[in-house]
Amino acid sequence: MEKLKNDLFLRACKRQPVERTPIWIMRQAGRYLPEYQAVRAKADFLTMCKTPELAAEVTIQPVDIIGVDAAIIFSDILVIPEAMGMQLEMHEGKGPVFYNPIRSESDAKQLKKVVPEKELEYVLDAVRLTKKELDGRVPLIGFSGSPWTLLTYMVEGRGSKNFSEVKKLIYNNSKLAHRLLNDLSDVIADYLSAKIEAGCNAVQIFDTWGGILSQKDFLEFSLPYVQKIISQIKRKDEPVIFFAKGVHHNLEKMVDTGADVLGLDWTMNLGEVRKRVGDRVALQGNLDPTVLYADRNYIKQEVISVLQSFGEGNGHIFNLGHGVLPDVDPENVKALVRFVKEESKIFHCS
Ligand code: CP3
Repeated sequence: MEKLKNDLFLRACKRQPVERTPIWIMRQAGRYLPEYQAVRAKADFLTMCKTPELAAEVTIQPVDIIGVDAAIIFSDILVIPEAMGMQLEMHEGKGPVFYNPIRSESDAKQLKKVVPEKELEYVLDAVRLTKKELDGRVPLIGFSGSPWTLLTYMVEGRGSKNFSEVKKLIYNNSKLAHRLLNDLSDVIADYLSAKIEAGCNAVQIFDTWGGILSQKDFLEFSLPYVQKIISQIKRKDEPVIFFAKGVHHNLEKMVDTGADVLGLDWTMNLGEVRKRVGDRVALQGNLDPTVLYADRNYIKQEVISVLQSFGEGNGHIFNLGHGVLPDVDPENVKALVRFVKEESKIFHCS
């Protein structure tokens, strides 16, 4: 068994006692860090993902510079559609673009079956190298998009306001939508299992676009597939975190997926969610990412109010309610981590 020097994050995921609340930050390996920008200036985004040395370097940066209690492997949720044969381009300012989106049976026929150990071996190599370089300092998190969120990108082809294309698909050809979601679930379960096998200590499923669905549609097109993945992941005691942004309903059903941790965005009330489901799962979140634009005193007060909202006891992992924004001051991110470390001790003294 691997001996970690800091296992606060893993203990919190399992709702075990900790001396203080652990913190990591979604999108912590990213553009707000000048050290990331320096690596990125030499290589484009996908090259960074596909070069284990570069991926490991930027994965570890926030551990060294910001002081977080877990690392998350540098990669992207869109490497799965890319491995299926979709041509991915990352555009400055515009975000990711697929020029040949999947909208019909014949488009879907173009998709290749993915074996993670082959087409995504570079991610597994990055995990293995990062584990070696981390040398047990903190746990390493692996991740994937949820089937629904990946399907959204694959069908829309780019960022969207109304998600008209993917909605057209679910309402007019739900059979194809379900077949694609089912196939994605199998790949994602294999992929997350392979990441755990390569050394990841926990995995997070990002359902970034779960919140664009009505409650009924969420229960049909997103949740059952997340449940299927969690039941298929090969793991020993590695926790699974389920983050569904903008989903305020069906919390009990989200817990029934078998997730060990629910990630909450900043529009949720941590204390209320804890009352409803906190005896069954740990909770992760949920500071508004834009609070990092405020001054340090304000950030500190907001950290305290998130900690108070959860209250005393175990099962809280501090995080933002969504990814850290690229134009925040890294000094504020460092201060955030320091405040959580200092202010959370009193919530764990008993
Ligand atoms: O959290 C981490 O630090 C690990 C790395 C990570 C990235 N993307 C790196 C990245 C993770 C976990 C992701 C997940 C991801 N990617 C999600 C789910 C999380 C979320 O934010 O909801 C989504 C929706 C994507 C798709 C994606 N990738 C978008 C929309 C963009 C462009 C806009 C943006 O936020 O930057 C990307 C590119 C991307 N992924 C960058 C990084 C560091 C920026 C690339 C660059 O350097 O130019």
